[in-house]
Amino acid sequence: MPDVHAALSYVRQFTDLKPSLGLILGSGLSVLADLVQNPVVLETSKIPGYPSSTVEGHVGRLVFGSIQGVSVVFVQGRLHVYEGHSVSDATFPVRLLSAIGVQKLIVTNAAGGIRSDFKPGTLMWIVDHINWTNLNPIMGSGIKAFPETRNAQQFNYYDAEWTKRAQAKAAKLGIDTATGTYLWTLGPSYETKAEIRAFKLIGADAVGMSTVPEVIQARSCGMKVLGLSTITNFAAGLGEDELNHEEVLEVGRQVRSDLERLVLALIAG
Ligand code: HPA
Repeated sequence: MPDVHAALSYVRQFTDLKPSLGLILGSGLSVLADLVQNPVVLETSKIPGYPSSTVEGHVGRLVFGSIQGVSVVFVQGRLHVYEGHSVSDATFPVRLLSAIGVQKLIVTNAAGGIRSDFKPGTLMWIVDHINWTNLNPIMGSGIKAFPETRNAQQFNYYDAEWTKRAQAKAAKLGIDTATGTYLWTLGPSYETKAEIRAFKLIGADAVGMSTVPEVIQARSCGMKVLGLSTITNFAAGLGEDELNHEEVLEVGRQVRSDLERLVLALIAG
């Protein structure tokens, strides 16, 4: 498992900030980092040991700063296993955030909508997930089964109380949100119609190619997690159009102002 010590020392040459809140920005959502005041921007390509991102439309940066007086760090350009990264490399940013001091993590992504009322533009709080890949970032690191059996019944990957507060904030801002289960597929190819029918049967509301390994890693580091999907398209076979990455980015741009208002409210408390 790649070590974050050298990366942490590098980061500390540029900032002493120890934000307790981190955000991972998904496809089309990197602009949210523009909200940060007095930003200290680090190119991830210069951070020792940080795996390099290869996806078009993704930048690779850590943005430190504050929003309304709260210290934050944004990860722009997440790493996907489908790029060829091992699941342990793909979750390097989460381990680095943990070393920096992050205790609460907001993960955002773009996802295909499976539930029939999930039109493009729907915002969905992730309340549970299905790991269709069965890859696991904490595998082989000498870590015990996680969560430990005796705690498993109370264990939530996604913080229920934080999600409830987030829903209330969205409602107050007049932003409609839903809740649902996110299914992680490896990608990079989109799903077949048959796969989407199967995913619906097993309880998935949305499908995407990220997030779950980060969440497993974050919880094993002891972080609290809030997950938010932007539904950018109907999943395969459910809409009229072909799926493409441009469409995913375009819907991301359209819901930008709602997301900005929501993220500001979430950071405020
Ligand atoms: N499938 C997988 N990943 C996605 C999709 C999808 O339909 N939309 C955005 N990310």
